[in-house]
Amino acid sequence: MLSGKTILIGITGGIAAYKICELIRKFKKSGANVKVVCTPNALNFVTKLTLQNLSQNEVYVEEFDVKSWKPEHISLADEADIMLIAPATANTISKIAQGIADNLLTSIACAFRKKMIIAPAMNCNMWNNAAVQKNLSILKSRGIEILEPDSGFLACGYLGKGRLCRLDKIFDAVVEALKCSDKLKGKKVVITSGGTIEDIDPVRYISNYSSGKMGFALANNAADMGAEVVLITTKDFEAPYKIVKVKSALDMQSALDNEFDTSDIIIMAAAVADYRVKEMCAQKIKKGESDVLTLELVKNPDILAGLCERRAHNSLDKPLIVGFCAETENLLQNAKEKINKKGCDFLVANDISRSDIGFSSDDNEVTILDYSGAIIKLDKAPKRVIARKILELISK
Ligand code: PMT
Repeated sequence: MLSGKTILIGITGGIAAYKICELIRKFKKSGANVKVVCTPNALNFVTKLTLQNLSQNEVYVEEFDVKSWKPEHISLADEADIMLIAPATANTISKIAQGIADNLLTSIACAFRKKMIIAPAMNCNMWNNAAVQKNLSILKSRGIEILEPDSGFLACGYLGKGRLCRLDKIFDAVVEALKCSDKLKGKKVVITSGGTIEDIDPVRYISNYSSGKMGFALANNAADMGAEVVLITTKDFEAPYKIVKVKSALDMQSALDNEFDTSDIIIMAAAVADYRVKEMCAQKIKKGESDVLTLELVKNPDILAGLCERRAHNSLDKPLIVGFCAETENLLQNAKEKINKKGCDFLVANDISRSDIGFSSDDNEVTILDYSGAIIKLDKAPKRVIARKILELISK
């Protein structure tokens, strides 16, 4: 199942370290090449010899134990298809979130550009600590998958959340990630996210409630599936792929124009303003005598329709173009009209009148239409899961 894949397992200094021996066996039995890197503290809980025997590879601990011209933290990061850190202590989680690279494991994490999964394990009070939670959310915002700990009796005598999650859950997450890791290999995927910002004057603007989460989830998943990703976004994200920060619809259009010729897939998850102020005021608009202020708006270009038009006009067979459709009523009917009008290959429709999905929420529920008239409904799920399903569908 995993032959040809290299899994780099990082073990940190927690009692759950002993459980990883079993996990290494499972990965080996599935045909994976397993490399293990430990923090010095991990070796208080499990021996190097055990890990060496189980992984049938050298176990790496010291940063300056130089064996070749290429530093270990770079060659191990380059070689692995995936990095799993389990158990991950509060200390290591926080260091990785802050970019601290003070041992071999954290240095590798700092240099690692592919899929990373972290399975934390710690005392429940440490898990609930505000700094640890903040650092976990930083890691999640960078597309790192966190397998939350289970609740129960902890080795420290407490009852609460902090036990390393079940080994089969970790195993399945790694297999799932590796299974998809080649599906978009060699493809350049350009994704837009966030709401565009149309300035009125130097202090005011027109925008919308898009958080950029849907587009970011698509970008992270596309990268996990092996694609070269470009995320064109109005929001601040950090990721190991190219991010182009834009503001207005016109900025987004020109960023897309720059990427068009070399892209294989374009996905427009951004909420683009249909109108902008005809002329932005150079100075702050002063409150006048009148109770009414009139702003003159002009239509923004329909970027999605323009991309489809450019492809058709040049008789190109790529990029594949996917639009989104945000509606507050008659979702399916409006989506059917929109896919025909815009001319894209797929249209992902979501209901933005609901507060539990769509704008800003971590979840979404979508109906996907394709050019042939087929309709697929995806039930409510985290945007990460919806994004993966959308990409799997279009990658076919
Ligand atoms: O960012 P989140 O908080 O995670 O929320 C996600 C989302 C709700 C923003 C996302 O799922 C979504 O629906 N994005 C599309 C929003 C939108 O602008 O929908 P629309 O139906 O108005 O536009 C249809 C399509 O045309 C979209 O792909 C849009 O990017 C594109 N468009 C719209 C206007 C315009 N001038 N140019 C465009 O290209």
